[in-house]
Amino acid sequence: MQITVFGASGKTGSQVIQQALNRSYQVVAYVREAAKLTLTDSNLKVVEGQLDDLNMVKQAISGSQAVVSALGPTGKPESDQQISLGIANILTALKEFGIKRFVALSTTSAQDALDIDSTKFKLRRTMIRKGSPSYYESIVKYTELVRQSDCDWTLLRIASLLTDKPLNKSVHVGYLGKDKLQSKLSRANLAWYMLEQLNSTEFVRQAPAISD
Ligand SMILES: NC(=O)c1ccc[n+]([C@@H]2O[C@H](COP(=O)([O-])OP(=O)(O)OC[C@H]3O[C@@H](n4cnc5c(N)ncnc54)[C@H](OP(=O)(O)O)[C@@H]3O)[C@@H](O)[C@H]2O)c1
Repeated sequence: MQITVFGASGKTGSQVIQQALNRSYQVVAYVREAAKLTLTDSNLKVVEGQLDDLNMVKQAISGSQAVVSALGPTGKPESDQQISLGIANILTALKEFGIKRFVALSTTSAQDALDIDSTKFKLRRTMIRKGSPSYYESIVKYTELVRQSDCDWTLLRIASLLTDKPLNKSVHVGYLGKDKLQSKLSRANLAWYMLEQLNSTEFVRQAPAISD
């Protein structure tokens, strides 16, 4: 299987790539700065480009059977705005090439109809919205774009603090206020679960939250 990974130079994206290579997948990594990606492998192709460059995005996706996005905002307004442009371009390319499967990282700042809201969750969202407006707006905007698309999307919403703990393949997946979610999530576990979704229909067109 060939997959294209966006956000490939990030901490989660690097885990996605390494684990995909371990599964003997062919991997195309889309990055804005190729020098940031230190991984090399005969099954890894690196495409350098900006998220708003539709032609480069298409070039990176062409020939893949699925796309994974580990893109996430960082709180820098200009950069954060680019993410929804990138997601829109990914969705355009998926449609053009008839590629159905798209797994993307999001966070619980983007609410889901299956969440049971509470004062605690409202307070957390308000803190993020006020403390880092571009981060919050980016997540809400690109998550909505994915939801509106007609591909077989799955959004995995990070419910907690990311860590660099090793892979143990033990995650909680569900909805706020309903399911048991912990306060931390290892990037290795997140990457593993994103890749697991590529061969699963369990959460197609759904956006569960995830934690260790
Ligand atoms: N850290 C936490 O505890 C936490 C908690 C909840 C949610 N999150 C979210 O989870 C995301 C993933 O976490 P992480 O630790 O893997 O983050 P990360 O290492 O900062 O990775 C973010 C990825 O997104 C890419 N990116 C961001 N803006 C971009 C732009 N304008 N154009 C192209 N690429 C862009 C980055 O590219 P570059 O490498 O080129 O910068 C990087 O590959 C975070 O971005 C954050 O939104 C984090």
